[in-house]
Amino acid sequence: MLEFTGVKNHGVPEEMIKDMLSIASEFFNLPESERLKMYSDDPSKTTRLSTSFNVRTEKLSNWRDFLRLHCYPLEDYVQEWPNNPPSFREQVGEYCTSVRGLVLILLGAISESLGLEKNYIVEALGKQGQHMALNYYPPCPEPELTYGLPGHTDCNLITILLQDDVPGLQVLRNGKWVAVNPIPNTFIVNIGDMMQVIGNGKYRSVLHRAVVNCNSERISIPTFYCPSPDAVIGPAKDLISHDQPAMYRNFTYAEYFEKFWNRGLATSCCLDLFKPNL
Ligand code: OGA
Ligand code: NI
Repeated sequence: MLEFTGVKNHGVPEEMIKDMLSIASEFFNLPESERLKMYSDDPSKTTRLSTSFNVRTEKLSNWRDFLRLHCYPLEDYVQEWPNNPPSFREQVGEYCTSVRGLVLILLGAISESLGLEKNYIVEALGKQGQHMALNYYPPCPEPELTYGLPGHTDCNLITILLQDDVPGLQVLRNGKWVAVNPIPNTFIVNIGDMMQVIGNGKYRSVLHRAVVNCNSERISIPTFYCPSPDAVIGPAKDLISHDQPAMYRNFTYAEYFEKFWNRGLATSCCLDLFKPNL
């Protein structure tokens, strides 16, 4: 059962990856007054800088700042993005488009691996969305007292994670947290909750977290690929049988996302709330 993997030779140019990491670092090193122009605690904003996870509801904070960007279709959002650093929009835009190409190849391959038509997953998503987070984890004087992000699964379909050369990502494997150390020019591919549903459990959404370091800051840049809010998500019909009954009921992605966001990050997967007959 595949949960997460790394991809090399993925077609996203190495220069573009380096530029993406350095532009994220430049952004978070801008003077605070400049960065704060983007600040909002309103999760419905399609471009915003914030901190922790959900500052409106959580009682404990995480050691993270993040810039969240909607990025597909690009032309609908790019004008909301920061224009400082000056090349931000152009470089981040090119990166998003390139990562989208990779996602589409992966989704075709995953569909076929499940015995479905190549286009099955893309077509199940409706008008798909692509969001990105630029995560910035500052050095932390007492890293054992907090997390960058506590254990969670990603609520979307699939996440392509770029990390700089500082360790911090961990995944839960056989009950133990295992470090996924950075390999240059390699993306981490995380299966999200919606893939677990569509594949009727054949692909598993992986529990992961980010820890912080005492001396070094860390940057990670996940690209989240999501269904349209009104897309009805459920196990693919061809994957349901007498021996393998549907593990989840059908629901809209909007319904799922609302539950996920409001309950905060939790080590039990939100999917448990969407079992049949619940
Ligand atoms: C996330 C995430 C991990 C990391 O943003 O959902 O899991 O390494 N990030 O920053
Ligand atoms: Ni995550």
